[in-house]
Amino acid sequence: MSDKDVSALDSGFMSEVASVAEAAARAGGEVVSKYHRTGVEIRSKGSYNLVSDADIEAEAAVVGVVRAAFPGHAILAEEGHRADGDAEDLWVIDPLDGTNNFAHGVPQFAVSVAYCRRGRPMCGVVFNPVSGEWFAARRGEGAYANGTRARVGTEGALNEIIVSLGFYYDRGAMMEATLEAAGDFLREEVHGVRRMGCASLDLCWVGIGRFGAYFEYMLSPWDFAAGALFVEEAGGRVTTCGGGPLAMAPTGVLATNGAVHGAALEILRRYLDKAEGRQQPIG
Ligand code: IPD
Ligand code: CA
Ligand code: CA
Repeated sequence: MSDKDVSALDSGFMSEVASVAEAAARAGGEVVSKYHRTGVEIRSKGSYNLVSDADIEAEAAVVGVVRAAFPGHAILAEEGHRADGDAEDLWVIDPLDGTNNFAHGVPQFAVSVAYCRRGRPMCGVVFNPVSGEWFAARRGEGAYANGTRARVGTEGALNEIIVSLGFYYDRGAMMEATLEAAGDFLREEVHGVRRMGCASLDLCWVGIGRFGAYFEYMLSPWDFAAGALFVEEAGGRVTTCGGGPLAMAPTGVLATNGAVHGAALEILRRYLDKAEGRQQPIG
């Protein structure tokens, strides 16, 4: 979709989308906060990929708000809604991003809600119900953190930033590739490397300048749809870990303040084959 098509989206429609996204994230946040206070049984989708009633109930709450307003729109959400990523009008939802943190009482988790037009995020909201931090963006209209215009950091080099990263749910070659890349960032004398455990907040923290870069060799659309738009609208850059454009499908993600993007890509590309399970070239 070109920027001309974007401006053609009716502004009344986009205002409604933005207020529904906010109401939906708030509804999900209420469920998640309730369980954060009272506790919930955690189950396992894989040995360290967890799920709880909080995830399921929060998804139902978020989807309920979206469906009430836009019954004809498609929904792609982590716990059980599987629409096509290229659908004309698509909501991409992570009802509880950072479930592992949530399960261990670490207050770094969020509800992430994005509206996409033909695979392109147009509106996104990320809400941390514990800190109360709100991150909201609309394509072409800027990014706002708790109502204040957000901008990426102005650092010009890797040795001036903190890098955040994630491991997806992998303890094999992708994990090793991530650790090797982390080592290279440290050798470039970044101020620090962090693993926060909530991709949507990692992205938004790039957008407000806390992190100069964030990467993960694999993410799902619901992890990045809202946060990637937030970074772009805050003046940053988001690509795959090889430097290509993002599609609304599972993919690696690199988000930066823009200025350090090339230097970060240079490191990530060294381990891309390994991360993606291809044979390393010999010699
Ligand atoms: C996960 C978190 C984590 C990231 C994983 C995601 P979930 O989402 O965002 O930070 O490293 O790749 O899958 O499973 O907690 O919704
Ligand atoms: Ca997630
Ligand atoms: Ca989740």
